[in-house]
Amino acid sequence: MEFKTDIFSQYDKKWGLLTAGSKDKFNMMTISWGGMGTLWSKPVVTAYVRTSRYTHEFMDDNEYFTVSFFPEEYKKILGILGSKSGRDMDKINGSGLTAKEIGKSVTFEEAEVTLLCRKLFVQRLDPANIINDDDKAFYANDSEHDMYIGEVVEIC
Ligand SMILES: Cc1cc2nc3c(=O)[nH]c(=O)nc-3n(C[C@H](O)[C@H](O)[C@H](O)COP(=O)(O)O)c2cc1C
Repeated sequence: MEFKTDIFSQYDKKWGLLTAGSKDKFNMMTISWGGMGTLWSKPVVTAYVRTSRYTHEFMDDNEYFTVSFFPEEYKKILGILGSKSGRDMDKINGSGLTAKEIGKSVTFEEAEVTLLCRKLFVQRLDPANIINDDDKAFYANDSEHDMYIGEVVEIC
């Protein structure tokens, strides 16, 4: 398992696609907040998903999720998948991406790298615990984030 990257730009600049569900029923959304590291002696990925997202339901209902990264030419598609909800758009057929199974989850033929993750931990980020007021502002008009930590079980 090898994945070499500049972690501080991987999510922030490149963006990722978070997908959860089975090939029959899944949803995906663009993410740019997240982390990668080590927890409980395991390689882990962290994703922060607002409770209002359709993908949130899939993150709760499934044991596995994937985080995929794409070549630069897919940025426009990632922009769409990050501004439209799967509740309002057929993301699967409308994105132009080709879904494929990976383990018990889903990724896309077009991805250059996919991290398959097994959910280890979920917790709501309580705005009362945020130290800086400017960070609290992210919750003034929007729902809270749930933090999902997943063990990276496969990189492909
Ligand atoms: C570049 C970018 C990064 C985003 N990062 C996140 C994120 O880390 N967490 C989050 O909850 N939403 C994030 N979003 C917003 C969701 O992708 C967006 O609300 C999406 O439409 C949700 O789709 P869904 O309702 O089908 O799940 C991001 C959007 C963009 C464009």
